[in-house]
Amino acid sequence: MSKDFQISVTKTTAPKSKPTDENKLGFGKIFTDHMFIMNYTKGKGWHDARIEPYAPLSLDPSAMIFHYGQGIFEGLKAYKTPDGEVLLFRPQKNLERANISNERLCIPAIDEEFALEAIRKLVDIDRDWIPEAPGTSLYIRPFIIATDPFLGVKPAETYLFMVILSPVGAYYPEGLNPVKIFVEDDYVRAVRGGIGFAKTPGNYAASIRAQEKAYELKYTQVLWLDGIERKYIEEVGTMNVFFVIDGEVITPALNGSILAGVTRDSSIALLKSWGYKVTERKLSINEVYEAYEAGKLDEVFGTGTAAVISPVGELKWEDHVMTINNGEIGKISQKLYDSITGIQSGKIEDTMGWTVKV
Ligand code: COI
Repeated sequence: MSKDFQISVTKTTAPKSKPTDENKLGFGKIFTDHMFIMNYTKGKGWHDARIEPYAPLSLDPSAMIFHYGQGIFEGLKAYKTPDGEVLLFRPQKNLERANISNERLCIPAIDEEFALEAIRKLVDIDRDWIPEAPGTSLYIRPFIIATDPFLGVKPAETYLFMVILSPVGAYYPEGLNPVKIFVEDDYVRAVRGGIGFAKTPGNYAASIRAQEKAYELKYTQVLWLDGIERKYIEEVGTMNVFFVIDGEVITPALNGSILAGVTRDSSIALLKSWGYKVTERKLSINEVYEAYEAGKLDEVFGTGTAAVISPVGELKWEDHVMTINNGEIGKISQKLYDSITGIQSGKIEDTMGWTVKV
């Protein structure tokens, strides 16, 4: 695909009404007026890049995505700064990861620079949809699906790459209040050699049963243990996870079954720049429990694009209920949340060079 690839634009003639209360957006329920769409055909490559009015797709019922889940997705956000500029947060990282997922799923790579241009153009067209209330943003969902009408299992020969936009508030109803997490030691999310590191629908489908079990027990999310020994911490439902033990910040190392989160990477960089000792390593649930018993488990928090920073107030593992930091947000979680959302929304100087103007 050449760099001077054109994007045609057809604007809607029937703009939708925008949400009236930005404090009641929830997550992923409202969609803007336009979407980006581009086709892939074997032998021709990616072609026909266009921005069109947001509308349902017409796909053959035998389209391969419906049957075998050959698809990938990403999640990033756009923010409006106090002086009306629009910023994206580290979009190159998401596009780089999209191609890592593509490789694993045998989907043809996208041109990352071109995809960034497409996102910028789409967000610019729908910039009036970017909410401005604290804790809100425009969630950007790029995704690729296999569209061949075919029931055999093999890499597809046709795909759609699309980007849709959704004005959002907090991912968890708790917002920045600590969430209660259930440590799952029966179901597993992924194993090394599988698809755990890829952002692909199957990983999320695999998580739903355990998530339902956690809800029934009045927990918000699941903390996954490794798929082999059911002992080492992997990640939380839709987030990477960090533990502060005796002043040291520990997060599971990227081992092939964990998603390499952009907020995870940003949190590690910020914490190190503030002088914290941050260690990426194997961490067992027993070690976490021992630290808790010894009064050394200072904080636990999740990181993710949708959730940003989500403090954990309670962890339930087998018969043990661990209340963390009296169920209140810890000082590291608060500082990370303030700094990351401050940089993202242009309220704090971006000394890391992470934001990209639309
Ligand atoms: C994100 O954090 O952007 C995600 O993709 C998680 C999602 C399942 C809401």
